[in-house]
Amino acid sequence: MILTDQEKKMLDGQYGKGFQKAMEIVVTLAKTYDAEKLIKISSAHLGTTFKSHGIEGLEWVEDLVEEGARCNLKEVFVTLNPRSFDIDHWREIGFDEEAVANQERLDRCYRRLGTIPLHSCVPYLLGNVPIKGDHFSWSGSSGQVFANSVLGAMGNREGVWANVAAAITGRTPEYGLHLKENRIGQVLVTMGDLDVSRFSAYEYALLGYFVGKEINDQIPVFSGFPKYLTMEQLRGLAYSLPVGGAVPMFHFLGLTPEARTYEEAFGGKGPNRKLTVRSRDLRMVYDLLNTTQRRDVDLICLGCPHCTLEELHEVAYLLEGKRIHENVGLWFCTSRWFKDLADRLGYRETIERAGGFILADICAGPSAPFNYLKKGISVVATNSVKTAFYAPGTSKVDVRFGDTKSCIEAAIHGRWEI
Ligand code: F3S
Repeated sequence: MILTDQEKKMLDGQYGKGFQKAMEIVVTLAKTYDAEKLIKISSAHLGTTFKSHGIEGLEWVEDLVEEGARCNLKEVFVTLNPRSFDIDHWREIGFDEEAVANQERLDRCYRRLGTIPLHSCVPYLLGNVPIKGDHFSWSGSSGQVFANSVLGAMGNREGVWANVAAAITGRTPEYGLHLKENRIGQVLVTMGDLDVSRFSAYEYALLGYFVGKEINDQIPVFSGFPKYLTMEQLRGLAYSLPVGGAVPMFHFLGLTPEARTYEEAFGGKGPNRKLTVRSRDLRMVYDLLNTTQRRDVDLICLGCPHCTLEELHEVAYLLEGKRIHENVGLWFCTSRWFKDLADRLGYRETIERAGGFILADICAGPSAPFNYLKKGISVVATNSVKTAFYAPGTSKVDVRFGDTKSCIEAAIHGRWEI
């Protein structure tokens, strides 16, 4: 494998032990994937829940920092994914002191490492925006699929250690989606009896979940869709495709950067499979995600991926002058930046007057706060395919899944009505 002089120096320990350990991880990964060389990245986004690190992972990052490892923000823009709790509301939502102490210890490490504490899984809406052809190393499948597909930047799905090592060294092995030939479309996806011109972001998420289940880790090319899609619709598709399977990226014919034409999307080869999606397919996955027929709900949790300002505007509108049922909780997980804007725009006041919370910085999915709750929550309602998919396994709860309006209705009545 070819290493530059600077990379060899890092590996030999000339930049200090922290850099050496990080480079050893990058080189080991490169050997595992038979990469011929390392490439420079311009962007990194790191996972930061204590749950995803455990005590061993926490101590590993602490050692790296003690041994002098630091990010160089002039070369790599490094931001952070959600953490485990909101500093303003951890008591109300039931966190215990030990979980808070461990997360704060991890936060301190990442601060010393020199990262930017964005604590959101929509970094592409908050300033971490690699452009077409840039290489990146991001934690979190939803952002990784969005950056590859919609931005045309190039990055693989990797674990916590590989992301941290890439952020420190500014390098990642050249393999997988860093190579153009591995980014061409494989499955042509068209619609049967579905009118996609009216699809909401929620319906795009259902579509993505179904397609991901069907094609697993192949790259779909969607054809026959409107020539313009909103950020919300693209985000709905990007986050849901890797939930049911392991789709690394997608193309939209005539819309996304590497699919301006049919030839470009399929690399001049044509698809190896065609998939037509019908309304009964979406109904089938909708039924799968609803794990109970019980009507009483305990908690309504939205924001996986993090709520956008548009979503917070929508829920504030739906909650205007209303009060949620006394037996339910209502949480909207988002970034601190959107929470602050929601505050200035009056959405937060409307939501809190209705009895809900906007929670900043925290994850609403597999590392969701209700994992930590001691009090009984047995049915969670959500509009998120990802929360619905993971919550029964990780949090041992049943799920009611539906669109935003259904979730807000459930919060007001304390019952799932559709
Ligand atoms: Fe974001 Fe956590 Fe969901 S990181 S996409 S809220 S699983």
